[in-house]
Amino acid sequence: MPAIIVVDAFWGDSGKGKVTAHLARRLDAALAVRAGVGTNAGASFTLDDGTLVKQRQLPTAWVNPRTRLAVGPGVLVDPAILADELQRFGVADRTMVDPRCGIITTDDLAEDAADPFLRKVVGTSGSGVGPARARYVNRKAQQVRELTEFTGLCGDVALEANTRSAAGEVVLIESAQGTQLSLSLSFEYPCTTVKNCTSAAAIDDVGLSWRQVGEVVLVVKALPTRVGEGPLPHEMTHEEAVRRGIAEYGVNTGRPRRKATQIDADLLRYATMVNGPTQIALTFADHIDPAVKGVRSPEGLTAEVRRVIDEVERITGCPVTMVDTGPLLNDIVDL
Ligand code: IMP
Ligand code: MG
Repeated sequence: MPAIIVVDAFWGDSGKGKVTAHLARRLDAALAVRAGVGTNAGASFTLDDGTLVKQRQLPTAWVNPRTRLAVGPGVLVDPAILADELQRFGVADRTMVDPRCGIITTDDLAEDAADPFLRKVVGTSGSGVGPARARYVNRKAQQVRELTEFTGLCGDVALEANTRSAAGEVVLIESAQGTQLSLSLSFEYPCTTVKNCTSAAAIDDVGLSWRQVGEVVLVVKALPTRVGEGPLPHEMTHEEAVRRGIAEYGVNTGRPRRKATQIDADLLRYATMVNGPTQIALTFADHIDPAVKGVRSPEGLTAEVRRVIDEVERITGCPVTMVDTGPLLNDIVDL
């Protein structure tokens, strides 16, 4: 079975991590590889036993003990965050990090936090990815291969992903951020992240051949959100989000997420065009109708949610195959 790419249609924070974790268990994936910029990502979900998990560096597929984990060569690594997640999830014996990954240093963190342009105009996550990537592009960065503490984890992730996929094993590629945050494909520069966040960018982050791509899952957040600066069509006030009980806060920064009242059809059409999805995961469906919260079978989906599913299928021309209904890993209708 060739590789499955999971990407986000809008501004991230859509539950890509949860969708990937679900697929890892459902398909008993052999390998999951993190793509995307770096530790500006923040995924959160709740395990079946009620434990809230937050993570920024490793693939969320660690929840399946049989899935091997990897970080693609295009992804920036923060050594402290990598070390913390390896230890917290107890996965060092099944994790591979590409030696070519660029390093985020404490200087990068300080520069991201101190730069008034990055802080106020872009509203970055403060995780140092901009300064680190600029240095990497200038060929002045350190790579993971230079860090002795990770020697045992180093391996060619591109080789691993292509070989396993070509052998018919299930390989998941978990991207990060979202299409509308793409550096050159967004129309909102400079309110973007530091590279593209599309399906093509994700396979490039890993070094996976396009011939190995079997499915592209586009994650569509039912009520899209945005953290940081830049336009958000159909934005609701934070007070309204609080009143409706659907206010969200950033995993990394705790910033309130700006929230929209609906999906923007033009942006979804554009995201479909540039990502070429084969299926859709509709996430945060309980934010459009609280009656579906925690629902796990199709009969529990309400008319209001079905209307949005029909609309998303009409715009994208793809089937909605998963509907996320709450924070628990198992709060999902797998169609
Ligand atoms: P940076 O990627 O930290 O430099 O931030 C640039 C812009 O992208 C800011 O608006 C961030 O809030 C946004 N951003 C970066 N990564 C993510 C993410 O994983 N989820 C949501 N927003 C993100
Ligand atoms: Mg996030």
